[in-house]
Amino acid sequence: MISTFYEKIVGTSPPPEPSEPKVLCVGLSCLDIVQLCKHYPQEDSDQRCIDFRYQRGGNACNSCTVMSQLGQPCEFLGVLSNEQFSQFLQDDMRKYKIDFLHCPIMENGGCPTSVVILSMSTGSRTIIHHDQNQTEITLSDFEKLNLENYSWIHFEGRNISEVLLMMQHIENYNKSVTQRDSETNEKLSRYTPITISVELEKKRPELLDLLPYADVAFISKDFAKSRGYLNMSETLKNVSHDAKTGATIFSAWADRGAMALAPDGTIVQCPAFPPHKIIDTLGAGDTFNAAILYYLNKEKLAFKKDYSSNASDSIKMTIQQNYNIESSEKCQTEFIDQAVLQEAITFGCRLTGAKIGLQGFDGLSSIYKNYL
Ligand SMILES: Nc1ncnc2c1ncn2[C@@H]1O[C@H](COP(=O)(O)OP(=O)(O)OP(=O)(O)O)[C@@H](O)[C@H]1O
Ligand SMILES: *[C@@H]1O[C@H](CO)[C@@H](O)[C@H](O)[C@H]1NC(C)=O
Ligand SMILES: *[C@@H]1O[C@H](CO)[C@@H](O)[C@H](O)[C@H]1NC(C)=O
Ligand SMILES: *[C@@H]1O[C@H](CO)[C@@H](O)[C@H](O)[C@H]1NC(C)=O
Ligand SMILES: *[C@@H]1O[C@H](CO)[C@@H](O)[C@H](O)[C@H]1NC(C)=O
Ligand SMILES: *[C@@H]1O[C@H](CO)[C@@H](O)[C@H](O)[C@H]1NC(C)=O
Ligand SMILES: *[C@@H]1O[C@H](CO)[C@@H](O)[C@H](O)[C@H]1NC(C)=O
Ligand SMILES: *[C@@H]1O[C@H](CO)[C@@H](O)[C@H](O)[C@H]1NC(C)=O
Repeated sequence: MISTFYEKIVGTSPPPEPSEPKVLCVGLSCLDIVQLCKHYPQEDSDQRCIDFRYQRGGNACNSCTVMSQLGQPCEFLGVLSNEQFSQFLQDDMRKYKIDFLHCPIMENGGCPTSVVILSMSTGSRTIIHHDQNQTEITLSDFEKLNLENYSWIHFEGRNISEVLLMMQHIENYNKSVTQRDSETNEKLSRYTPITISVELEKKRPELLDLLPYADVAFISKDFAKSRGYLNMSETLKNVSHDAKTGATIFSAWADRGAMALAPDGTIVQCPAFPPHKIIDTLGAGDTFNAAILYYLNKEKLAFKKDYSSNASDSIKMTIQQNYNIESSEKCQTEFIDQAVLQEAITFGCRLTGAKIGLQGFDGLSSIYKNYL
């Protein structure tokens, strides 16, 4: 019988540790049919490819695959169906220990599918997508979640009007959490206010409407180029006008690496870490996002623990909470400083560099262990 320090001092068992909150990714899960070719094919030609595979894909779902391999409890929320390929996606999520228990299952729905051509000579990935009239997650699906179980919710910028409603729903939850804590004067709250992140990936200008609600934003190279931005610093500078005060913004740019704007306005950057040979860049951006979510979420939870165990800071904490009730427009991502952001972006670029040297996502967990 192990008697803990706590038991010796207090005489009872410690209160049960609440289970670790999850990171939730809201977006698409689809079937990726991947053909590995020596060169990108010519139109109306007939040839053999080097390799063929099919795998579970979709931005949000890929990010879950990566986080799960880093040991992060995570959940996917997106529309699924009872169709055979969607069954494959569900089996695969079970295999990777990704929760999907809140996904609505459409009877007679299809399975969104992408055909992907990987070119060995250039490392490019060409994607041809069909969405099978995919319906999107709605607010009423989202309201079924118990938000107490999550510390971070990441959105793929898809159905903007619905995603906005979900973000507002989280904001209200955040307010109720901070209000409850300041009323009860609880020092270490069981409840964690949720951090919201969003990815602007597709070339749709309306996606900018999501920025005012996000604590953390990822701006893809494709989106940036579609706005006429030529590089990462221009992207960060221009996009920050539309973001919430104190937001953290990332811009990743393939072999140029990535850059980020910290809440205090400073900029950090990290070059790419290309592998000896680029094998598979499909899902590079999703891997980068997952690495950042994983890293910052860990920092957030560690910060909370640290903060709450510091008696001398309890007054400061109450003041900050009241401040948050007054103004929900300002981010309170105080766990992200310049040093943390530099570490996060470096981790993101390193993990992604390793990923593009591998087929698919398997093997990332052992690469990650080598970093520790
Ligand atoms: N060709 C490359 N060489 C080296 N690093 C790369 C390369 N492509 C991507 N990366 C790494 O991946 C990160 C994310 O890149 P980026 O967002 O441009 O990927 P993407 O092609 O958009 O991915 P996705 O297939 O998910 O859309 C970069 O910051 C960089 O660290
Ligand atoms: C998608 O919708 C269009 C028009 O509503 C319809 O013609 C088509 O059959 C649908 N496709 C599938 C795969 O359900
Ligand atoms: C979610 O929260 C509820 C109530 O707080 C709890 O009963 C449940 O076990 C939690 N689920 C997970 C997966 O943590
Ligand atoms: C977004 O969702 C709403 C409600 O489900 C739907 O009416 C609308 O067509 C969707 N819009 C887009 C752009 O997907
Ligand atoms: C970015 O913002 C700057 C300053 O606000 C402006 O001069 C520039 O035209 C913008 N770039 C693009 C591509 O919109
Ligand atoms: C980024 O692009 C802007 C606008 O074209 C340019 O002024 C700036 O010098 C560029 N920065 C770098 C680092 O290339
Ligand atoms: C906790 O309090 C100590 C002493 O006042 C201080 O040095 C430390 O920085 C505090 N830690 C945090 C996370 O605020
Ligand atoms: C949720 O609350 C946290 C902590 O107070 C804060 O950092 C964050 O900005 C809030 N997010 C939203 C969307 O309200």
